[in-house]
Amino acid sequence: MVKEKIVLAADHAGFELKEKLKKVLEQNEIAFEDLSPKFVDGDDYPDIAFIAAQRVARSKLMGVFICGTGYGMCTAANKVKGIRATPVYDEKMARISRQDNDANVLCLGARLTDEKTAVVILKTWLNTRFLEGRHARRVDKIKRFEGGLPI
Ligand code: RB5
Repeated sequence: MVKEKIVLAADHAGFELKEKLKKVLEQNEIAFEDLSPKFVDGDDYPDIAFIAAQRVARSKLMGVFICGTGYGMCTAANKVKGIRATPVYDEKMARISRQDNDANVLCLGARLTDEKTAVVILKTWLNTRFLEGRHARRVDKIKRFEGGLPI
């Protein structure tokens, strides 16, 4: 498992699942900071995603963001420089998004993914390392593009 602190964030739709995953992190002695500790009915996922994504980008920590589908948080988070957020719905994608893409934000959809599956995804994602090599060359091209450099 990762040793670094995890940045957690959720909108109203993801709040309950986030609370459950916090217990899993605690059981596995993984530190976290929760950027949305209070339930706010009707809050807007971009507001939360931008703050949390900036925190991840500046700190170089990893993030776990949760909304109804995972897609909204993911789309907004990926607007922030340095973020490679991925929506994940199964164990295989959890593994590949780390191994190949060095994803630094996991996005879960609480309305689409049950708790048991979310726990498997979370553990797999946190336990899987980036494979470097040819994958680093590809991710570097994204970083260069993002930085306005020729790829
Ligand atoms: C909120 O109702 C919902 O739209 C949001 O959590 C998310 O699913 C968007 O992608």
